[in-house]
Amino acid sequence: MRAIIVHGGAGRWRPQDRDRIARGIHRAVASGFERLQNGGTAEEACLAAVMALEDDPTFNAGTGSVLTLDGRCELDASIMRGSDLRMGAVAGVEHIKNPILLAYHVMQETDHVLMVGEGAEKLARLLGFEPYDPITEERREQWRKLREKLLKGEDTLHYPRIRDLIRKHPELLKGTVGCVALDSRGEIVAGTSTGGVFLKLFGRVGDTPIPGAGTYATPFGGASSTGIGEGIMRVLLSKTVTDLMATGLSPQKACEAGVDYLSRKVHLEAGVIALNHEGEFGFAYNTQAMPVGIWREGDPEPRILGLPQA
Ligand code: GLY
Repeated sequence: MRAIIVHGGAGRWRPQDRDRIARGIHRAVASGFERLQNGGTAEEACLAAVMALEDDPTFNAGTGSVLTLDGRCELDASIMRGSDLRMGAVAGVEHIKNPILLAYHVMQETDHVLMVGEGAEKLARLLGFEPYDPITEERREQWRKLREKLLKGEDTLHYPRIRDLIRKHPELLKGTVGCVALDSRGEIVAGTSTGGVFLKLFGRVGDTPIPGAGTYATPFGGASSTGIGEGIMRVLLSKTVTDLMATGLSPQKACEAGVDYLSRKVHLEAGVIALNHEGEFGFAYNTQAMPVGIWREGDPEPRILGLPQA
């Protein structure tokens, strides 16, 4: 059984962006599934799908990522292979077009799991990655306006105020992107990539590159999480969901249980997708929307779900 599931991030999306989001999710899931159909590995499929989402400025990963408080992009990504629990991750990289690809190289070509900032970029240059600026004009403009509002009359800046600002501008909370793929050999690979949270403090690292938080995979199944990283890290959402699947719970029930646990324990926004070794999928979120694309062997076309309602 070959199967793939992708997400474009749990959060609050503008209904008027529905078609644009659906097209981006369709492109990503199709590009991953095409690899699987042509005999490609789950790694190739996961990379193709996540890179398609990173390259689409609609989503908060790679090009078009949200900016930090001081106006830079600090990108996080990770990838994990279920069969041998190998993982690669990068955090706080600024000049990389596809952080998921760099995470993959960390897994394949180093003895490490997680590399950060300058060191990760140095590795990227050694591997031939060209310097790249992921900041779009649209994001720069949003950042300018928001920062002005945030600074007006305020002498301190911290998360509750940013949260209030995000409540007033829900379109800012577009999450992370991610994928779980299963190939014909039964290999499961999960990957996740993000620009993080808008106006995050410089140096802040979210759940995405943290093993078990943003991404996890075992021989039984894999998961990719999205939402406010400070909550996801505290419950290790992706590991929780994969552990539940290993006990025999369906991916759908495991995702629902994971998000329910997070909602009760940390009261923050999140979502998760999962796929098991039989090609069964699941997803759950406690936000307004979480665009998801699913394509399983035998389906004539992908299913696109979780879009914002018009
Ligand atoms: N889930 C993405 C982040 O919090 O950085």
